[in-house]
Amino acid sequence: MSAQFPVARPRRLRRTPALRRMVAETRLSPADLVLPMFVKEGIAEPQPVTSMPGVVQHTRDSLRKAAHEAVEAGVGGLILFGIPAVKDGTGSAADDPDGIVQLALRDLSSDLGDSTVIMTDLCLDEYTDHGHCGIVTASGEIDNDATLERYASIAVAQAEAGTAVVGPSGMMDGQVAAIRAALDGAGHPDLPIMAYSVKYASAYYGPFREAAECAPQFGDRSTHQQDPGNADEALREVLLDLDEGADMVMVKPAGAYLDIVRRVRDTVDVPVVAYQVSGEYAMIEAAAEKGWIDRDRTILESLLSIRRAGADIALTYWATEVARRLA
Ligand code: PBG
Repeated sequence: MSAQFPVARPRRLRRTPALRRMVAETRLSPADLVLPMFVKEGIAEPQPVTSMPGVVQHTRDSLRKAAHEAVEAGVGGLILFGIPAVKDGTGSAADDPDGIVQLALRDLSSDLGDSTVIMTDLCLDEYTDHGHCGIVTASGEIDNDATLERYASIAVAQAEAGTAVVGPSGMMDGQVAAIRAALDGAGHPDLPIMAYSVKYASAYYGPFREAAECAPQFGDRSTHQQDPGNADEALREVLLDLDEGADMVMVKPAGAYLDIVRRVRDTVDVPVVAYQVSGEYAMIEAAAEKGWIDRDRTILESLLSIRRAGADIALTYWATEVARRLA
């Protein structure tokens, strides 16, 4: 064996922290992180979400405080989910100008102005008494086109209350086009749409349904959300949404679908967003609580991997904490 062997030694660039930092291919920064927040109507104190330790359903006041802290930490944005006091068949609180998200939007835009991007999830499941993302027919099916009319109206209500980006998450066909047309018609042609383009029918949403009180009361979401085994179909969904006017596209969940994040990244030239969902959060928190994994390292690694797979932006319930750690 020659004394020179081996010539190629990848370890040379790993010797010191400074070298490793200099050659790092992927970096996380606070601006890449978006914090999902829950705000509930009619509660006096924030309510902890049992299956998501550290996450709460906010009151309007506690939301303002937590939003302020997130902005101080430098997060890229916030996305709001509302839980109304009263739910009904059509989710009428969702587009009520005095509905909880609209009130919260007014609070936050007066507090925070343009210092961050205040976004809104746009769906019906938190607002309907049956917990479905749309209008349910007499035979128990989700009526796609009747739902589009509701989404259009919600988009306008959120726009008038000051949202900076709407995020339709219901996986109805044509939702982006319907929302774009409604926004344009109501004088909001500049309001961007972050489309939840690729949203799988995933078991990882379990804890969210506690947080948002939106578990379907019958059936499931597999007639509109995607089958976890399908990848080509994800690209079809993304391309349709771009044709309909989406400004950013999302893949959700993130961790179990990093191959999809990569394929979407390689296909489109708009920002790609990935949602690290409630189940991903809960798994890491639970294993860490048992002392089975190193919580802080695992959180950073999970987010770095989402960025490495090709996401520009990650939605994560750890956004404030991680942004602080990165500062
Ligand atoms: C629907 C919506 C869901 C999530 C975000 N938007 C739930 C669902 O589709 O059942 C899940 C987010 C998470 O699990 O963190 N409005």
